[in-house]
Amino acid sequence: MATSLIKKTSSSKTKKPVDAMALLRADHKAVGALFEEYKTLRSPAKKKALVAKICTELSVHAQVEEEIFYPAVQKALKDRTLVPEATVEHATMKGLIGQVEGKEPDGDMFDAKITVLAEYVAHHVKEEQGEMFPKAKATSLDLHALGAQIAARKGELLAARGAPQ
Ligand SMILES: [Fe+2]
Ligand SMILES: [Fe+2]
Repeated sequence: MATSLIKKTSSSKTKKPVDAMALLRADHKAVGALFEEYKTLRSPAKKKALVAKICTELSVHAQVEEEIFYPAVQKALKDRTLVPEATVEHATMKGLIGQVEGKEPDGDMFDAKITVLAEYVAHHVKEEQGEMFPKAKATSLDLHALGAQIAARKGELLAARGAPQ
């Protein structure tokens, strides 16, 4: 789970720091598992609770990428396409989140929105991990320093939302 990983990286000074891309990949994996879990649920109350968690994870993840990771990558790569496109994808993702966050899971249309969100996120993750991350790794970016910044900011944002860190 991303939450337990974050706790380890932000609270333990003796542990080896996590690099930014390892942290972001762990988030991607965790949210993928939450989408898989959604498919197994039938109870609207359980769906609603899980969707709240998914929306929090996605929103916080997108925010730390936009505030910290993307600007660093954009500068290091002198990028004019990958980061702008990923930012536009975040905006679309936020629109989909807006359609389900806090809403009642009341049938097939709600489930369809979650399926489309999951597919959209999978597409976005594939582009980040397949294109942006390998290019960023080949630069002189200090990924551990970035990872520490991202972990700290995630902790703040999760706390502000009253979510476990
Ligand atoms: Fe992203
Ligand atoms: Fe990401």
